[in-house]
Amino acid sequence: METKEFAGDALPMTLQDEVHPEGSSRFVRACLRRPVDRTPVWFLRQAGRYMPEYMAVRKHHSLLEICRTPEIASEVTITAAERLGVDAAIIFADLLLPFTPMGLDFEFVNGEGPVVHQPVRSLEHIQALQTDRVEELSYVAKAIEKVVAHFAEPREDGDRLGIIGFCGAPFTLASYMIEGGSSRNYIETKKIMYSEAAGWKLLMEKLVTVLVAYAAQQVEAGADVIQIFDSWAGALSVSDYREYCLPATTELVQRVKALGVPVIYFGVDTASLLPAMRETTADVLGLDWRIPLNEGWKAAGVGCAVQGNLDPITLFAPQDVLERRVREVLELADGRPGHIFNLGHGIVPGTPVENVIQVVEWVKRYRK
Ligand code: CP3
Repeated sequence: METKEFAGDALPMTLQDEVHPEGSSRFVRACLRRPVDRTPVWFLRQAGRYMPEYMAVRKHHSLLEICRTPEIASEVTITAAERLGVDAAIIFADLLLPFTPMGLDFEFVNGEGPVVHQPVRSLEHIQALQTDRVEELSYVAKAIEKVVAHFAEPREDGDRLGIIGFCGAPFTLASYMIEGGSSRNYIETKKIMYSEAAGWKLLMEKLVTVLVAYAAQQVEAGADVIQIFDSWAGALSVSDYREYCLPATTELVQRVKALGVPVIYFGVDTASLLPAMRETTADVLGLDWRIPLNEGWKAAGVGCAVQGNLDPITLFAPQDVLERRVREVLELADGRPGHIFNLGHGIVPGTPVENVIQVVEWVKRYRK
């Protein structure tokens, strides 16, 4: 155990207390690379269309209705966390919610994903985006308050469930604003990035302003940790990431950390970007499944915790294959403090719920 790093924990403690003080959260402790009694586990998109309980709610409400109604968003969040038996609950929301108070209309079209009606394509449009209406997003904080109240008491094993708030990162959000939806090659985004230096800088600044205020609402409501999704940063070369993305993202990470919570920074297809992503000073880097966990951890640096990184499609494999892959991730983590078990990206529709629950059981039982 790396006791030296935890010299700040000055009180003499019994071994059990040191590994897991009663009422603390092993998920939060792992984010801070403190020792834990076992590896914490949760899943990206743990509340989603693969889960019958979610689909039952979706029958009566649109995605945005669920997000904007704290009673329903909190219920969906709580149901998923309890059904799976995971160590953290991520608030049910969506990356694109901040677009509305910025003055950008969008909707979710069934089967197509998000559609922004008037994509941002000019300096004038960037200048017109608003940054002073963030309080309109307070429904997310209200939902978090309800989740926090529900999980206030420690569970049977003495652990308090971690509550995760989240927001998008500037690049990934800018890509939706500019492309108008999901994209394959990010041509419009990169055109603005390369040719509209002042506009791109202004867009990054505006997004950081909005996202810091939004994260602050979530922390005030009781979120223990903020995860920043830079899902599509992997579309950038290392040079472009460093030049056009890293400065604004670093500012966002540092200002969210200054709110007093650990930050998890996540992207997909990021193997080559990990050393640069680490420069944001995020406490935890989310790893996708393409890189072996130990190699990802090495690239991120030892001073950083990691989250990941089972391929979400492995959840469709037979039990013996799935178990082998779960064990492999845990073995590559090698019991070092600062590993949070997760997938390398979100659970997809059609995933068998019982397999997800089985993975939680295996992670809980695993001992190095
Ligand atoms: O438990 C959870 O993690 C669910 C909460 C959640 C949602 N979106 C709800 C949602 C979270 C954490 C997100 C984040 C999000 N939203 C991301 C980053 C995560 C990632 O996958 O990298 C992104 C890129 C978005 C934008 C977005 N929202 C897209 C591209 C889509 C359509 C893609 C699809 O799967 O259909 C959405 C829709 C969406 N957001 C769904 C859910 C549960 C599915 C649609 C539905 O319920 O109708």
